[in-house]
Amino acid sequence: MSKKIFLSGVQPSGKPHLGNYFGAMKQFVDLQKEHEGYVFIADYHALHSLRNSREMNENIKNVLLDYLAIGLDPKKVIFFKQSDISEHTELAWIFDTITTMPFLMRAHAFKDAQAKNKEIDVGTFNYPVLMAADILLYGPDMVPVGADQKQHVEIARDIAEKFNNTYGETFKLPNPMILKDVAVVPGTDGKKMSKSYNNTIPLFAEYEEIKKCVMSIVTDSGEGIPKNVYAIHNLLRPASELLSLYESKAGKYKELKELLIEDLEKFIAPLREKRKEFAKDIPTVLLILKKGSEQAKIVAAKKMEEVREKIGVNIY
Ligand code: ADP
Ligand code: TRP
Repeated sequence: MSKKIFLSGVQPSGKPHLGNYFGAMKQFVDLQKEHEGYVFIADYHALHSLRNSREMNENIKNVLLDYLAIGLDPKKVIFFKQSDISEHTELAWIFDTITTMPFLMRAHAFKDAQAKNKEIDVGTFNYPVLMAADILLYGPDMVPVGADQKQHVEIARDIAEKFNNTYGETFKLPNPMILKDVAVVPGTDGKKMSKSYNNTIPLFAEYEEIKKCVMSIVTDSGEGIPKNVYAIHNLLRPASELLSLYESKAGKYKELKELLIEDLEKFIAPLREKRKEFAKDIPTVLLILKKGSEQAKIVAAKKMEEVREKIGVNIY
């Protein structure tokens, strides 16, 4: 039986934190063990918020290093860059011509922007259509995404159905695969860990930075188990082990934080070192991405030929 295929895109948007890792990144590394996969850097999607060429350039390289460091294996997964494959934007245009405005106006991201009275560019409005092209070019069985992206995968499914009904069976209907509920990873203040809340522990933090982050974890003045410290610690050790440890050290916040620092360092140090190794040789790392794009291009170009045939523009 052939392996099932997964596909997902990641925006090049800055330093990853533990929430990103446990909530999203790690799942791709787990999936590659038993599936074929496509993971790509969604740089064209990021354009709606990232409009600085130097920063774009840096972010693309950083996300590449991040994923290689956590163990994404280019031998198992085709790892590529969206902007290398012009078929994505080409297919998005064709999808535009069969997608109605009222349909896209139902998208959460558009409705949120509208509710906030934001000026909405056409790219933001069209975001789900480009995402549909990203997905449908490769015919994945599943699309692992965070809950916030579920609607986009459903839109891709609807667009595929519309195309198939109009021009004949062409696209496999994709299924969203909501990333396993790792529950929300809490930040140093107990709220959801997020870049926007300034409460993160960076995935590749240096020892001193880990220390600083852990020391800033908000604790109450009670006697018992410091729940914000425990919640982060629980990412690294099973509850069966942690509970007795925390009970035996109830009220000793400083000691528990020191233990967490040591455990975080044990977990982060190998990832951090691996990332540094890759960063020593950027040309080789870029070559990995370029090769991935070449492999993806073959698949995308073949699908695009079929699409051109179906819509009737292939006349030579
Ligand atoms: P941020 O909130 O820091 O801006 P993003 O929105 O860029 O993070 O999230 C990228 C991915 O990481 C998404 O798939 C999201 O679901 C996941 N993620 C982000 N923060 C967390 C968290 N605290 N817990 C679990 N998953 C998270
Ligand atoms: N929109 C996704 C995000 O912001 C990234 C993305 C772009 C994507 N194209 C995709 C995810 C295709 C899955 C499939 O996280």
